[in-house]
Amino acid sequence: MTDTATADLEALEARFASDIAGASDLAALDAVRVAAVGKKGEVSLLMKTLGKMTPEERQVMGPALNGLRNRLNEAIEARKAALEDEALNAALASETVDVTRPVAPTRIGKLHPVNQVMEELAVIFADMGFKVAEGPDVEDDFHNFTALNFPPDHPARDTHDTFFMEAADGETPKVLRTHTSPVQIRTMVSEEPPIRIIAPGRVYRCDWDQTHTPMFHQVEGLVIDKNTHMGHLKGCLEQFVGAFFETDTVEARFRPHHFPFTEPSAEMDVRYERVGDAVKVGSGDKWMEILGCGMVHPNVIKSCGLDPEEYQGFAFGMGVDRLAMLKYGMSDLRPFFEPDTRWSGHYGFSPLLQANLATGLS
Ligand code: PHE
Repeated sequence: MTDTATADLEALEARFASDIAGASDLAALDAVRVAAVGKKGEVSLLMKTLGKMTPEERQVMGPALNGLRNRLNEAIEARKAALEDEALNAALASETVDVTRPVAPTRIGKLHPVNQVMEELAVIFADMGFKVAEGPDVEDDFHNFTALNFPPDHPARDTHDTFFMEAADGETPKVLRTHTSPVQIRTMVSEEPPIRIIAPGRVYRCDWDQTHTPMFHQVEGLVIDKNTHMGHLKGCLEQFVGAFFETDTVEARFRPHHFPFTEPSAEMDVRYERVGDAVKVGSGDKWMEILGCGMVHPNVIKSCGLDPEEYQGFAFGMGVDRLAMLKYGMSDLRPFFEPDTRWSGHYGFSPLLQANLATGLS
């Protein structure tokens, strides 16, 4: 009797083994599992008959059935792993992302003109060997004024022009920086010359009309070395203006001016003409002021712990928003800071076209 029974088991095993191997997906495999070793599966039902067998029969059939069940379970697990691998590979093959395909431009929004101009400035000055430095928007009196050689009674220290923060106990009040010049101080204090940085960032002043907003953007420049002179300043800034306005015919003049932190100080004007709301630099008969500059005042160099007998250099500062208005023909500054997507859709730039000197800035 057990001989025929074990022969039956071999046939049963062969049948299930072929069913398992033939299961083409996880659902089919699970159906085979249920039919073979599930609660009411054939092998499980056979195991239930062990109780009714004679002890001799059981001695043969018990281990035979156990072995069969274990082998079937193993075969099912192995097939399951193989099917899961296949499913994963198929998903990976069908769900690939082609990263070389262009993005739908409407989905990614526009780069704000201020960001665009900041990128352009970084590209132009990086090409001349400048690195980008940053400082905090909330400054202390030392970095924003004192170290920059502002006398104690200078009008910029007035609440009329400057946003003062409430003072913490016993401290002088902090200010929202009124210019990016404090980054000059932070850089000279923390770095050894030679120094060549630009510092773009937000600045704050109490002002609000068509061309003034209480927060706007400046970019500062600073070069400190042993022999840097006014000729370097002039060459550097003329090259910058030509690159920024994308012209070879820059004509600039430097008008004497006053800043507490530079001596001599100048404002740089460039020759231009209007073309609609935008300006064309390099031709025309008008002059337009575009930045402030000068040789760093010896007192400023001294405030930073450097010896003005050994080191000298130049600095410049300009309004980024104003540069954007001039280059891209926007006559009102206020919409720069209003959440109007029609404005940004019209004046914004594609984030996919990175400013660079090889193929053009904008
Ligand atoms: N900090 C000046 C301003 O805000 C600009 C400037 C910077 C001028 C550096 C000279 C040198 O107007």
